[in-house]
Amino acid sequence: MAFKHWPLVRDLRFAQKCGRYLRGARKRRPDLNWDEFHRVARHFKTDDMGSFPERGFLYQLASDAPVDAQVVEVGSWMGASTCFLAAGLKGPAAKIFAVDNFQGLSTCGEDAAWYNRHFQKLGAASTLEIFKRNFAALGLAARAEPVVSDSLKAAQTLVSRRGAIDLIFIDGDHSYEACKADIAAWAPYVKRGGVIAFHDFGSRASGVTQAIFEAIKAGQFAEIVGVANTIIAFRM
Ligand SMILES: C[S@@+](CC[C@H](N)C(=O)[O-])C[C@H]1O[C@@H](n2cnc3c(N)ncnc32)[C@H](O)[C@@H]1O
Repeated sequence: MAFKHWPLVRDLRFAQKCGRYLRGARKRRPDLNWDEFHRVARHFKTDDMGSFPERGFLYQLASDAPVDAQVVEVGSWMGASTCFLAAGLKGPAAKIFAVDNFQGLSTCGEDAAWYNRHFQKLGAASTLEIFKRNFAALGLAARAEPVVSDSLKAAQTLVSRRGAIDLIFIDGDHSYEACKADIAAWAPYVKRGGVIAFHDFGSRASGVTQAIFEAIKAGQFAEIVGVANTIIAFRM
């Protein structure tokens, strides 16, 4: 096991990095409940799918959404980003539809190889049970509705929610064609004034960056809400 993964070293690194992030976040947004963010971050200490600024930005976007907000996430994996979103929501009817095949099926070859390696280590064929365990452990299960489906198929089955979603986070298939198709399929779901956010803008996933650039140029988004590392969010 690498030195940085030793439990004591890992905990120390977590405390330092998370503490540094939280000091800035509390100054920037003193109105938000950062203790709740910290609770979720502690649970996902070993998660490597996002940085603190990215997780914090998702938490902030969800906290800024209206009471009883309806949220869609495309690409949930084990539910880390989903939990940060769910933790920020407020109101008894707030809900996050977590769309994923939960099998790491992706047309992006680099991603598919990475998921396969993880599934071999996990000794499982799906991340759905881990997703559910994470939500249950954090007491957030009432806010999550996993949708076990391909993204584009889910956009058909959830059609009654078109135009009624407050916040969408897209972090599914990272190929250019798939990201472009996700934007076309899911942007109409966002309410006017709602938010659509993407992971991996400006990252190694150049297809994602290109698809988002094209959508910006085509005037699909009204304004930028913010950027945190490789997450970019727009108001519709
Ligand atoms: C990068 S992971 C998501 C990570 C998660 N958002 C987080 O930050 O914790 C991408 C996920 O998208 C899913 N995925 C890829 N292509 C998909 C598709 N066409 N439909 C549904 N899910 C897809 C994969 O199964 C994988 O779980």
